[in-house]
Amino acid sequence: MEPQLTTSESPRGSREIYGSVELESWVERIGLEPSEAYLLRNFLKSDAHTVEAGTGGGRILFGLGELGFRKLHGFDFVPGMVRAARTRDRHRFLKLSVQDATQLAYGDESFDQIIYLQQIISLIESPEGRRRAMTEAFRILKPGGPALFSFLAHESRSQIPIYRAFRNYLRLLRFVCGVRRDIQTWPWLKLGGRFNRRALWDSGPYVRWFRAEEAISELSAAGFRIRFIASAHQLEDGRLCSSSDELLKEPLRGAIYCVCYKE
Ligand SMILES: C[S@@+](CC[C@H](N)C(=O)[O-])C[C@H]1O[C@@H](n2cnc3c(N)ncnc32)[C@H](O)[C@@H]1O
Repeated sequence: MEPQLTTSESPRGSREIYGSVELESWVERIGLEPSEAYLLRNFLKSDAHTVEAGTGGGRILFGLGELGFRKLHGFDFVPGMVRAARTRDRHRFLKLSVQDATQLAYGDESFDQIIYLQQIISLIESPEGRRRAMTEAFRILKPGGPALFSFLAHESRSQIPIYRAFRNYLRLLRFVCGVRRDIQTWPWLKLGGRFNRRALWDSGPYVRWFRAEEAISELSAAGFRIRFIASAHQLEDGRLCSSSDELLKEPLRGAIYCVCYKE
């Protein structure tokens, strides 16, 4: 039996959060979100070997199964998530494992296409860890293959007054307390569907809110060529931008999605 954390306790990291207060809600989710369905349908091939990072209860992999994909792999660093996905996979068509995105056991160029959606990179607290995860993603992808990433989006969030107010509060708190934490690093605001009161005193763990340009430059540094970038707002209309400058001239909503290739 895994230890259960309540919202009154302080989780030490995202692995603990997803293994406890966030476990049930992610295990129960079903169905693809419209922006995911758009990207998966338009950029991935149903007969190719596909892996999803941070697969949780397998929501995206089962969604792909319904679209006719069969060669499906997934990993998650929370054993309880992988167990739940296996239980749901009655026909045993998924190849699942417990692994951390920052250090994968897969061989080089194991997959034709890779999925890093639901902002998995933003959930990794350290800059080195995020870079390692992107480098690992590049390593396991075959040349020519597509990679779909999404990030928590600093510019989208900055357009919403309540978040702007909280950002200003965090900035002031960090200044007063002499904490040099960057303003794109935020504590988790919600845990288990409830407001996380520890966020008010800037208590970790933290997630990274990426600027569009930062997402592009970090992916490029890992070796990817970025073909398209969009927020949920653009994806709803099936429109994608070719640069962060182009995207930032438009209204933004939700996560930032990047369609990349390994050349
Ligand atoms: C937001 S949930 C998304 C779950 C699933 N992809 C979905 O869309 O329903 C993020 C998942 O990523 C996993 N995760 C976070 N960081 C990870 C890491 N470094 N390595 C592997 N899995 C990770 C979490 O355990 C969690 O299951």
